[in-house]
Amino acid sequence: MDRKKQEAMRQGRDVINLGIGDPDLPTPAPVVERLQQAAANPKNHQYPASNGMPSFRQAVADWYHDRFHLTLDPQSEVLTLIGSKEGIGHTPLALINPGDLALIPSPGYPVYHAGTLFAGGTSYFVPLLEQNQFLPDLTAIPDDVARAAKIFFINYPNNPTGAVATKGFFESVVDFAHRHNILVCHDAAYSEIFYDGIRPQSFLETPGARDIGIEFHSLSKTLNMTGWRIGFAVGHADALAALHQIKSNLDSGAFQAVQEAGITALQSDDQLLAGIRNIYQERRDTFLSGLKKLGLNAHIPKAGFYVWIKMPQHYSSAEWASRLLSDANIVATPGVGFGAAGEGFIRMTLTVPTPRLQEAIDRMEKAGITG
Ligand SMILES: Cc1ncc(COP(=O)(O)O)c(C=O)c1O
Repeated sequence: MDRKKQEAMRQGRDVINLGIGDPDLPTPAPVVERLQQAAANPKNHQYPASNGMPSFRQAVADWYHDRFHLTLDPQSEVLTLIGSKEGIGHTPLALINPGDLALIPSPGYPVYHAGTLFAGGTSYFVPLLEQNQFLPDLTAIPDDVARAAKIFFINYPNNPTGAVATKGFFESVVDFAHRHNILVCHDAAYSEIFYDGIRPQSFLETPGARDIGIEFHSLSKTLNMTGWRIGFAVGHADALAALHQIKSNLDSGAFQAVQEAGITALQSDDQLLAGIRNIYQERRDTFLSGLKKLGLNAHIPKAGFYVWIKMPQHYSSAEWASRLLSDANIVATPGVGFGAAGEGFIRMTLTVPTPRLQEAIDRMEKAGITG
């Protein structure tokens, strides 16, 4: 798809890119200004501590307290990451030995599987099915697999399906992890982009979760900071110590000026975040109503900025994505790119302005790409 997109752009075609999860909106000005000041301070030009600045980790603990009413020890239960992808990718290296099993959602963010492969582990794919609201069916995981598994990646709000977890689901994951001695790695990168005023919860709010879980967060999606590379992991101190051990051997931490700007981002006024959410809400509502008019069956995302669309029959997701590009100059991601259970779906993103989303709908209608 990427090659085809490049080719279309080389030909000068006006391509609407609904393929990548990279916000089009700018990083808020106060965060940029803080970076400008912090970058001018020579103290920030030296190697940072690989687990992060104490002031950044304190800001994370404070944010967790305000947002989820959880008290974390910033020393042992918070770790600064160079983007959450870095921590997610390194976690299997810290916790998986060659031959060990990791439970990985399918469809899912590809780094869970890639990190497991690089550590010499084996991924056992747990399908996220439409009939289960895209939550894994824990009862369908065979006993011998559950016994052999060391870690379990889950991700809510979910990329690519837009699903959110229920309280009951998180409780059953805690029970499952306790019974089988598995570390749960919950990826909450999209927790702050939500719709209709319904805030997704932290996995760590679930009773017992802090004994068996860590959680990843990112400032990338929350405040349009994908290029800055700043995120964090929180939760189980021993698991974070293991991840830190890997990191301290492979990287030397996030640029301190970026961490300082990250503190400003974490302390952002909720009005600022509400403004960003309102933009996505308008985009989601416009795009979803357009898809409905086209007769396409899209899942209404409850959070995140992805729309997961069920294919009309007789097409593979790759064929449909090719047709979208060739007939309507729209880039979308075939569901199969997120794992075998993603076949039959296509993912589109809400990271372009509302008029462009409306234009995508008009182009699809003109090209006869309907349900
Ligand atoms: C589910 C999920 N987790 C984590 C990330 C990584 O984000 P970052 O490394 O920018 O924090 C992404 C990025 O697309 C994602 O979709």
